Amino acid sequence: MNLPELDLRNAVFWQDPAPLLAELRERTPVAVANDGTKVVLRHTDVGNLLLSGLFVNEGVSLLARRGFRPGDALYEYRRQALGALSGPDHLRIRSLVGKALGSHNVQFVRSVVERRLPALLDGLLERDIDALQTLTCLPLDVIGEYLGIAEGDRAGVDALVREGQAKAFGREVTPAIVQRANEVFAELLAFVSAQIRERRLRPRNDVLARLIEVEEGSSTLSEAEVIVLFLNLFIGATESTASALSTGLLELAHEPRLLDALRAEPALVGAFVEENLRLHPPNILIANKVAKQEIEFCGLRFAKDEPVIVPVPSPNRDPRVFERPDELDLRRNPQRHYTFSLGSHFCLGQALARAQLQAFFEVLSRQVSRVELLQQAIEWEPYAAITRMNSLRLRLHVSG
Ligand code: HEM
Repeated sequence: MNLPELDLRNAVFWQDPAPLLAELRERTPVAVANDGTKVVLRHTDVGNLLLSGLFVNEGVSLLARRGFRPGDALYEYRRQALGALSGPDHLRIRSLVGKALGSHNVQFVRSVVERRLPALLDGLLERDIDALQTLTCLPLDVIGEYLGIAEGDRAGVDALVREGQAKAFGREVTPAIVQRANEVFAELLAFVSAQIRERRLRPRNDVLARLIEVEEGSSTLSEAEVIVLFLNLFIGATESTASALSTGLLELAHEPRLLDALRAEPALVGAFVEENLRLHPPNILIANKVAKQEIEFCGLRFAKDEPVIVPVPSPNRDPRVFERPDELDLRRNPQRHYTFSLGSHFCLGQALARAQLQAFFEVLSRQVSRVELLQQAIEWEPYAAITRMNSLRLRLHVSG
């Protein structure tokens, strides 16, 4: 069957994916990417894909295709990362992590934002700023405090993660890139090992300490699993949340009525955050799933291990589910978007991300009355795993 094509090499797609996806979604439930991968477009089908168990996360085959081998630092990290595991090991680790994180997390994250953001904002009001340099770095401090990483170490860990990830998951992976990504991940793994030794010498009450100690029945986390989880949480938490902060700020700049509404009725902040996540999912593509066995899905045959792509803005704006889907509607309810995925790999940090985003926009809407955009157009970095702008120049006004 000849399926319509979604051109992922088209620079226009990465600048504004929604219109191209809307046009495709109305023509066909499934399209095909340039490399032949099937692309599922409609809300109900994506729900079935994520919940049916017919597709599983793909493990390390992507890295293997790019020249990484067993024993390589990045390969060994990825092999044990939650996103690459499936079956009983995945369930066991998720359950232990859930127990280690406990339920006070949301309160903890809120308190970090409420303590840090007012002072940060004070120094930024009524000035020309690039929010990407000054404001949306807050998630790094939040996850840093949460995991117990010393303030002076956070930027260094973040830089290493960005370098390692960007190189290894970029479009062209040369042997030199493989080598550098492995060096970077070896450094990161050594950093976390040292943190664990520290906790053993001087016990503390942070998430790393709780991961080391957690047990359920006779089950515990091995040291290697704790190291990987620590990085998993760090990597999962920083860029994605920063992306959602920046798109939220951009929405407020484009639509001043939104900030007026949030200031008049703070209870609407939750709806604002949710709608912004629906409209601007930080992960544009969920592209880590493969067919568990030979199956038929959406009337099409998938071979065992055949990959599939979900371009998240497509189901998130499906008019079959969301009326006026391109509108940020503060009264919309319920919001069944796939920004945090769904099913067995449903984002483990979604409650933390939501708490952080809500606290951020609550504090902001108390202190700021208008967000002015100081640049003509926004440029998005193409092909990025997490959608990000190149700059976001703003002026935050206190009145008028
Ligand atoms: C707006 C912010 C965030 C977004 C949009 C987001 C999105 C996602 C997505 C799309 C997945 C992939 C699910 C799949 O494979 O189907 C995921 C997994 C994950 N996320 Fe998040 N995430 C965010 C914040 C966080 C935070 C704050 C943390 C940690 C504190 C976190 C930790 C994780 C982990 C550990 C996984 C792997 C779960 C698994 O495979 O079982 N994320 N996230």
